[in-house]
Amino acid sequence: MLQTASDTPRASVPLPEIYHRVERHIPAFEWPLLAGDIAAILKLKKERNAVLLAHNYQTPDIFHTVSDIVGDSLALAREAARTDAEVIVLAGVHFMAETAKLLNPQKTVLIPDLEAGCSLAASITAADIRLLRQRHPGVPIVTYVNTSAAVKAESDICCTSSNAIKIIESLGVPRVIMLPDEYLARNTAAQTRVEIIAWKGHCEVHERFTPEDVRSLRESHPGITVLAHPECPPEVIAECDFTGSTAAMADYVGKERPARVVLLTECSMSDNVALQHPDLEFVRPCNLCPHMKRITLPKIRHALQTMTHEITVDPAIAERARRAVERMLELG
Ligand code: 13P
Ligand code: SF4
Repeated sequence: MLQTASDTPRASVPLPEIYHRVERHIPAFEWPLLAGDIAAILKLKKERNAVLLAHNYQTPDIFHTVSDIVGDSLALAREAARTDAEVIVLAGVHFMAETAKLLNPQKTVLIPDLEAGCSLAASITAADIRLLRQRHPGVPIVTYVNTSAAVKAESDICCTSSNAIKIIESLGVPRVIMLPDEYLARNTAAQTRVEIIAWKGHCEVHERFTPEDVRSLRESHPGITVLAHPECPPEVIAECDFTGSTAAMADYVGKERPARVVLLTECSMSDNVALQHPDLEFVRPCNLCPHMKRITLPKIRHALQTMTHEITVDPAIAERARRAVERMLELG
């Protein structure tokens, strides 16, 4: 017989208070398999004076149980700049850990899997940026945080999906280069008078959504509210009810409380938000980010046990890259 969370008295499961946060997502029979890692991570964090920052795309077992700070890329960068902890563990992808290191050169920053990359970060190099500068002299370069430190170092300022318009308009120029995400650039251009020169990078998760997906969702789920991340193609955004960063989508759900909703973004994001709103119906045609999914509880435990994998940035690159990130944070 299949046992469900509600069949098992909560007090009989390990770490009952923590289990309560995820019991609608994780069956009671699976919980003991996770609880050992969770208890070990909580203990190790104290021993190491470590803080665990988790992106909204981390799975609920990480997001709702062991994380100290959760959020979008901008929130994680801000919190990394504020923390007093000696060690930062980044449950997210490499560029996020690198950004945390740029802002905390004296601290130890760990990523549980060094291979957790990003198709956007892989789409452009520092040499590409130098060529773009030659081709468009005097045009400022606004770089999405989903890039390597070497790329950030060649840029004037960084942005995230939650502050792109504000950053671009703050520069007071008629034209900017915005890279590497072509769709974020085009979606931003639709909301500002500033002319935007884009690059051809795409997020492998969001580029797969299509306008037909939105139409068939509306047909099969009448009344559905469709939210989408601005890394989706503009033709998809045009069919949606709201677009915003991962944090902006979560805020929208909290404030507007749509009875039936779909988040066109990474699957775990929808799972995490759904756990916070048991009374709303979440429809799940989402896509998985294979890079985000490299981070697991056993790997986080291992990272804290062995203090690996430590993020380092060449100091010559770090100083210039930090300037681009700090300029963004100064603007909010
Ligand atoms: P957010 O800044 O909206 O969290 O996006 C990060 C990301 O990687 C989206 O794919
Ligand atoms: Fe990169 Fe897309 Fe994965 Fe975000 S979801 S980390 S942009 S590949």
